[in-house]
Amino acid sequence: MGRRVVIALYDLYARRYDRIKAFDAYAEQALLAQPLLDSLAPQTEPLLLDVATGTGRLPLLLAADARFGGHIIALDASANMLAQARRKLQTQPVRRCISLVQQDAMRLPFPDRSFDAVTCLEALEFLPSPRGALAEMARVLSPGGILLTTMRIDSRWLPGRALSEAQMRAALTALDMGDITVEIWQEDYSQVWARKAATTAANAGVR
Ligand SMILES: C[S@@+](CC[C@H](N)C(=O)[O-])C[C@H]1O[C@@H](n2cnc3c(N)ncnc32)[C@H](O)[C@@H]1O
Repeated sequence: MGRRVVIALYDLYARRYDRIKAFDAYAEQALLAQPLLDSLAPQTEPLLLDVATGTGRLPLLLAADARFGGHIIALDASANMLAQARRKLQTQPVRRCISLVQQDAMRLPFPDRSFDAVTCLEALEFLPSPRGALAEMARVLSPGGILLTTMRIDSRWLPGRALSEAQMRAALTALDMGDITVEIWQEDYSQVWARKAATTAANAGVR
């Protein structure tokens, strides 16, 4: 599927997305928000980018948590998915620490080394080039910053798009990312955690 078709499909079913996914609030807190907040500590005001945010799953989870004092840029290419995120932001009692941005994940409109953490959940295999998207995420991460992404376990329906664990590790290592861990998360996805090297070839000598 090409980029336009993927985005058109998400535009089409944006209003039903949350109902179909039916995220479990307890699991979201325990297996997503908590580990991310732990990995961000001791930073109290991190700047986070959520790529392919959809209806704002992760930003809304963090914004509702008293331990998160930072700001989140929530980026997606689908206007209708973002409209759902906006609707929830207006109706749910969360702090105003989320900015919604309609943009393509393949060309992130941010300078190098901008973010303390970059996340991209359940989306990599829908992007035109998962490796290219990872490179963009690594580019905008600050040295020492955290990447949390996901790896689809059953890739039968996405041949050539979903990276295997070996491919994921190789791609991240080539991007100067270390501390790579892959953890079983849910039926369809594993979580992939990595940290950008504190000093990289690209930022050596930069003060
Ligand atoms: C399965 S949803 C995941 C949404 C969210 N991360 C979550 O976990 O609920 C995939 C998202 O990727 C977005 N997407 C697909 N292609 C994209 C692209 N090229 N640039 C930015 N977002 C894209 C879709 O619009 C959709 O919101």
